Amino acid sequence: MKMTKKKVAIVGCGLVGATTAFSLETQGVCDEILMIDINHERAVGEMMDLNDSLEYLGRNVKVKTGTYEDCSDADIIVITAGAPPKPGQTRLDTLELSAKICKSIVEPIMESGFDGIFIVISNPVDIIAHYVQNLSGLPKNQVIGTGTSIDSARLKNFIGQLVNVDPRSVHAYSMGEHGDSQMVPWSTVTIAGKPFYDVIADNKELVGDVDLEDLVSKTAREGWEIYNRKGTTYYGIATACAGIIKAILNDENRIIPVSTLLEGEYGENGVYAGVPTILNRSGASDVLEIHMTPRELARFKESCDLIREYTARIMEK
Ligand code: LAC
Repeated sequence: MKMTKKKVAIVGCGLVGATTAFSLETQGVCDEILMIDINHERAVGEMMDLNDSLEYLGRNVKVKTGTYEDCSDADIIVITAGAPPKPGQTRLDTLELSAKICKSIVEPIMESGFDGIFIVISNPVDIIAHYVQNLSGLPKNQVIGTGTSIDSARLKNFIGQLVNVDPRSVHAYSMGEHGDSQMVPWSTVTIAGKPFYDVIADNKELVGDVDLEDLVSKTAREGWEIYNRKGTTYYGIATACAGIIKAILNDENRIIPVSTLLEGEYGENGVYAGVPTILNRSGASDVLEIHMTPRELARFKESCDLIREYTARIMEK
């Protein structure tokens, strides 16, 4: 008899890692969660606290601690470890240190024989995801960055608030870099199928004066708005990551904007960028190519060019 368990390892048990574990546990997304941290006692503390919630949850998710060797049979490894930005830094400023930390994680994990899916949260996520793919030698579908999944959720919240509908009835993607250069292809945004441009035209008193450019920068800035108030973000990104994991482990074919390697899609090559992607048991299985206007495509290209420039800096090392 062969029964397989769904096992997720989380490397980096800071607030993002711990909240991701909590989100997986409370939603019963997997069978086992392995907590790993350079500070092992921290991982043990999180495991103990997470285990204390078991009695009142819907299912018994096993939470354990371990080493990189224990990752050999993991289905998914989430990398949250990195160098959080100091005040005044952008996500890109943390690149070199985050890359160094990721290298020290990915190499021993690959030595364990791991052949599952990496999900990278560490910033700057597009570049670090590309770096991890390179280091691991895994096919591109097996290395995913959380990318603009969180930005798209934020964007949908803002649009939903504007027109007073549930954000889950809004279809909108923020694409490109998970950072300042991200863009929104407004021509493709709909409220349950109705083009957002038509919603604006039909509801002049409600949204007639909406500034779309402002909405894009509000979306891109939201992480900083949170950071400035509480020093970090974790509920949003952890829940987005759990959503990605659920789509993969349950073979959902759900489309979520994540950072994946583009090889010709949108006219881009050799760059990890946030694009709507079909997620299933094989990971990032396929990219959905939505039709953008030439102006939107130019904006997307600018964002990809920026990611490419920074990626080149660490790939040489
Ligand atoms: C954020 C972090 C994940 O935007 O960059 O919340």
